[in-house]
Amino acid sequence: MITHIVGNRPQFIKLAPLYHALENAGYEQSIIHSGQHYDENMSDVFFAELGIPAPRVNLSAGGGSHAQMTAKIMVGLEEELLADRPKLLVLYGDTNTTLAGAIVAAKLCIPIAHVEAGPRTHDQENPEECNRIVTDHLSKILFCPDTISLQNLEREGLGQAAYVTGDIMYDTYLSIADGIQQPDPQEEIIVMTWHRQENTCSRERMESILQVVERLEGKIVCPLHPRTRKCLAEYGLWEKAEKIAHLEIIEPVGYTEMVRLMNRARLILTDSGGLSKESSFAGAKCLFMLEMDLWDDLVKDQWMHKFNPQDEESVEEALRFAKQAERVALPERPKHYGDGHAAEKMVQKLKERGMI
Ligand code: UD1
Ligand code: UDP
Repeated sequence: MITHIVGNRPQFIKLAPLYHALENAGYEQSIIHSGQHYDENMSDVFFAELGIPAPRVNLSAGGGSHAQMTAKIMVGLEEELLADRPKLLVLYGDTNTTLAGAIVAAKLCIPIAHVEAGPRTHDQENPEECNRIVTDHLSKILFCPDTISLQNLEREGLGQAAYVTGDIMYDTYLSIADGIQQPDPQEEIIVMTWHRQENTCSRERMESILQVVERLEGKIVCPLHPRTRKCLAEYGLWEKAEKIAHLEIIEPVGYTEMVRLMNRARLILTDSGGLSKESSFAGAKCLFMLEMDLWDDLVKDQWMHKFNPQDEESVEEALRFAKQAERVALPERPKHYGDGHAAEKMVQKLKERGMI
């Protein structure tokens, strides 16, 4: 038995190709949902659209502080893993669900495979950084989305367990993009997503982001994360956001609709780790609303521009980048994240190492 633990939107998107590849190879699998994300449009929609079977169990551990959530997942997960006794636990990305899975499995001596191992922001105030470091160091096999991630792991002495497979999100992106009819030529848009703790934790920070949005030119479509919606309301900024005429705030969308939006975008304004990378799949430049180390190859290519919404000089530069951003045709897009067959490579490596 191979068990996967997932709980967040990007993890469902990463799970789909690996689940299907293992299924095609005939392996018995079980999915545990931590419940970290629980709204229909943050969770169930991805299972339905990406053909992933319903989780065997949902631990309903959403909400609360980091410690409360992580602890709740750990307690629930231990019980489930004792029942499953899997040969392998697969963990995805860098969330509290990932961290809880790593600690519980390590203590039960269940080998861990970590999908999307190795990115480093080199900033431990970034909650995801702590989750990644702990998870990578407790894993038996590490699947890296790019060579920079592999180099990070080598520096930490983890190179022998690490492989560059390419980004599994590219597998998912292609599986959806290939099935979508090219839309009739439509107005190009800016797609915006916004959810990071660093960008929602203070009124000043949120207001400065809205000021940047006000100054951008062209229609902006923003499927808004529920955390951000709640924070805008809490800080009395919801009306200010609603008054920005060229900003269309919508509910979070499923992945098919998200790919449609990305494929219409000339620019993606985001603080999402996943979407910033997907921008290169979809041909839209990326303006990233945090100054931290991430996807450095895209930065070198001047595909991705990072800025600080609270620093005027940095904002001016970001606005210049935004003004110049145009859609980029397939042959000219950066290609740092593999060939869209990451899941098959993962299955192959797991077999070679006798882990499944
Ligand atoms: C989490 C991850 C982050 C990841 C993101 C993906 C951690 C520390 N953070 O951040 O790394 O980038 O998921 O989206 O694990 N909420 C709802 N409905 C939902 C989900 C969340 O209303 O379905 C609201 C709740 O008020 C909740 C808040 O959003 O307390 C934050 O959710 P949480 O899962 O803690 O963090 P994310 O910002 O989603
Ligand atoms: N996404 C989606 N619907 C939305 C917003 C995002 O399907 O309304 C997808 C996005 O394309 C990417 C993933 O969700 O594949 C990123 O998730 P998120 O930004 O929540 O998390 P992060 O990548 O920052 O961990």
